[in-house]
Amino acid sequence: MVPTVTLPGGEKIAALGQGTWHMGEAPAKAAAEAAALRAGIERGLTLIDTAEMYAAGGAERVVAEAISGQRSQVFIVSKVSPQNASAQGVEKSCNASLQRLGVEFIDLYLLHWPGRYAISETIGAFERLRAQGKIRYWGVSNFDTAGMEEIAATEGGGNCASNQVLYHPDQRGIEFDLMPWCRAREMPIMAYSPLGQAGRLLRSAALTAVGRRHNATPAQIAIAWSLRDGNTISIPKASSLAHLAENAAAVNIKLTEQDLAEIDAVHRPPRTKKSLEML
Ligand SMILES: NC(=O)c1ccc[n+]([C@@H]2O[C@H](COP(=O)([O-])OP(=O)(O)OC[C@H]3O[C@@H](n4cnc5c(N)ncnc54)[C@H](OP(=O)(O)O)[C@@H]3O)[C@@H](O)[C@H]2O)c1
Repeated sequence: MVPTVTLPGGEKIAALGQGTWHMGEAPAKAAAEAAALRAGIERGLTLIDTAEMYAAGGAERVVAEAISGQRSQVFIVSKVSPQNASAQGVEKSCNASLQRLGVEFIDLYLLHWPGRYAISETIGAFERLRAQGKIRYWGVSNFDTAGMEEIAATEGGGNCASNQVLYHPDQRGIEFDLMPWCRAREMPIMAYSPLGQAGRLLRSAALTAVGRRHNATPAQIAIAWSLRDGNTISIPKASSLAHLAENAAAVNIKLTEQDLAEIDAVHRPPRTKKSLEML
């Protein structure tokens, strides 16, 4: 059973979702990418994260193919790029995303990272889209604590539903203040690149050793770790059925205190404030 997290409004959504960055870049691979997303939906990974920026709209088209005939089962997250985050730009971008996705509404629409437009202007645009039924929730991505404070102080800012940020055992600075800030407001964090983009993290001796005890791979341990607090959504990207199946099975792993301590010993939790890193 895929665990859930609760949005500020009370709605429960899947805690383990699916990323789509780099999907839709190669037309020859699009069918396999859509098949992997469909297999994920079947296994309960019903939250799909995409963005207008990914493959210049190509990833949203792959999502459209994957969710065809099952719109009501999925929770779609997409993002407006900061250069389009003006009042008119947000509306235009949202309409284009809706068209590419082949849907009437986006479940959660995020500002991809802070940009040059005043956040009040972007929030105003998000609120209008919500009133029109084109989006159900809005949120942000790559916002540090100071940015979240600014949102909270802006009219309408109390409706921010999530902050999507880089989070994995080698990038855990947010545990110092951003995570507690969000938890205090019952706002789930969405962890991106939870596998560290399949780089050095998956060769971690600590994740490998913990994995041995659970008969699991380092990738599965990284996913279980990202989900451990019950308030975090994790969106690993898998474009093959094998990776997808492996990732979906990670929801059955319950990390013990000993597992977490062994991971902490190598991938140290922050002791001071660190600026938010982003990809
Ligand atoms: N808001 C932002 O600024 C931002 C930034 C980065 C990412 N994101 C979102 O977060 C999602 C996830 O992040 P990400 O794509 O950067 O990195 P990631 O999910 O940490 O890693 C993806 C890589 O891991 C591989 N992989 C997947 N499952 C695996 C497994 N079980 N074993 C070994 N390798 C595995 C994938 O290969 P295959 O594809 O070949 O399966 C891919 O190369 C993105 O797709 C995107 O939706 C958002």
